[in-house]
Amino acid sequence: MDRIYILDTTLRDGEQVPGAKLAAGEKLEIARQLAVLGVDVIEAGFPASSPGDFQAVRTIAQEVRGVGITALARAVSKDIDAVWEAVREAEFPQIHIVLGVSDIHLEGKFRRSREEVLAMGVEAVRYAKKYTPYVEYSTEDAGRADLEYLKETVSRVIDAGATVVNIPDTTGYCDPEQFGHIIHTLKTEVANIDRAILSVHCHNDLGMATANTLAAIKNGARRIEVTVNGLGERAGNTALEEVVMAIKVKADLYQVMTTIHTEEITRTSRLVSNLTGIWVQPNKAIVGSNAFAHSSGIHQDGVLKSRQTYEIIDPQSVGIAESRMVLTARSGRHAVRARLQDLGRTIDDAQFELFHQQFLELADRKKEVYDEDLLALLTQENAVAASAYELLSLEASSGTTRSPGATVRLRLPDGREKSAEATGSGPVDAAYSAINRILGQTVRILEFSLQSVTEGIDAQARVSVRLAIGSDVFIGRATDSDVVISAVQAYLDAFNRTLHHSTQVHQSA
Ligand code: KIV
Ligand code: ZN
Repeated sequence: MDRIYILDTTLRDGEQVPGAKLAAGEKLEIARQLAVLGVDVIEAGFPASSPGDFQAVRTIAQEVRGVGITALARAVSKDIDAVWEAVREAEFPQIHIVLGVSDIHLEGKFRRSREEVLAMGVEAVRYAKKYTPYVEYSTEDAGRADLEYLKETVSRVIDAGATVVNIPDTTGYCDPEQFGHIIHTLKTEVANIDRAILSVHCHNDLGMATANTLAAIKNGARRIEVTVNGLGERAGNTALEEVVMAIKVKADLYQVMTTIHTEEITRTSRLVSNLTGIWVQPNKAIVGSNAFAHSSGIHQDGVLKSRQTYEIIDPQSVGIAESRMVLTARSGRHAVRARLQDLGRTIDDAQFELFHQQFLELADRKKEVYDEDLLALLTQENAVAASAYELLSLEASSGTTRSPGATVRLRLPDGREKSAEATGSGPVDAAYSAINRILGQTVRILEFSLQSVTEGIDAQARVSVRLAIGSDVFIGRATDSDVVISAVQAYLDAFNRTLHHSTQVHQSA
């Protein structure tokens, strides 16, 4: 079977999702898990976009072994220099250059002729080759480009030394037949194509990213660019888990393989969702919470008699345990620690002490603690550890005969304590207004969602908020068995994220 190489761009294209910005430590944690998952290359960021991103890529390159590390550059020497500086200490460093190829991009963005843009691309590849033999060239918006010009571009950048040529459907415009045709044409009509790996990068604007990627594989692409949970610009990128499982389930059809350890898929998905603050939709293929849930009586009956009646994937093959482990206050430290390790989360002894205290408090309130509770607690723990805005106290009231009100007391990043009170349309609204008063901020709430983490009246409430603060968007998340506390902690989590990123200038590729 032919091998399909996987470049994961969760930390670059995925991180471009508004509000999904990750702190350097969070990027490193995800990169480590991607290496465990078995991806071939991690695209760790876009170093020229900000000093923070440069440093995050560099730390990943220094710390994560056994996997290729690349980062994105526009076709200009200063970006390429920044990428090389950031990735040079990796075990397998690579440089990824992107430059437009469609007339829409050439005329609308660059205002240059086809020949001029191609010369820039060739020059950029030659420049990058000074640093490393492993140079990827992306023909941005190839899905809408003139095919003859695309062929010429691919051929010329391979002659200049590109070892991977990537064909992005940047706007998610193609359908599988069109995209398959583009790949087939390049594979059969570009004379030097076998001197490079043909790669694809699809977006999901029309919901066809996975189908287009699979069509490309059928037509000869041997590297694919994907993200965990399909995160990415606008409607997202091709989801790693979908293509990997399609190839595995339909091995007879595709006749290709990857080196992904599929049992790590669920753990990776949860880690990315927890750290980016972006929930996975329940009906999402492979990693949605309902992906293996059978609810209709007919289906349940069938599955009980024979799983294959309604299941094409064994849940265990993507890392969903058959039986859910439930911890209680009497479970003991050892069991809690072992469960965290099974969930792929390692924390040092000092962090564990704090975590265990919080676990015991939760177990007292809730009796049974599920994996989801542990992960939620851990996220909350990280937030508190990194926190600069800290909730010291909250009193909130509501009822049918009084107007809802809240009094909030916070510790600020400079150590001062401040409190304020406010009324609102409900206790959460009142608490948010009190916080705005303390912080002197105007905040627009773009999204507020409340979910229960597990089942039952004592389940923890998970709140996610998307806030427009100044000119940027931040996501905040928190979990608590009290909905109002959870909502307030999520609000503060978003503010704490502003502190990680306030020095960055964000520029998307
Ligand atoms: O969508 C796109 O074209 C990209 C390139 C940088 C590969 O993200
Ligand atoms: Zn992209």
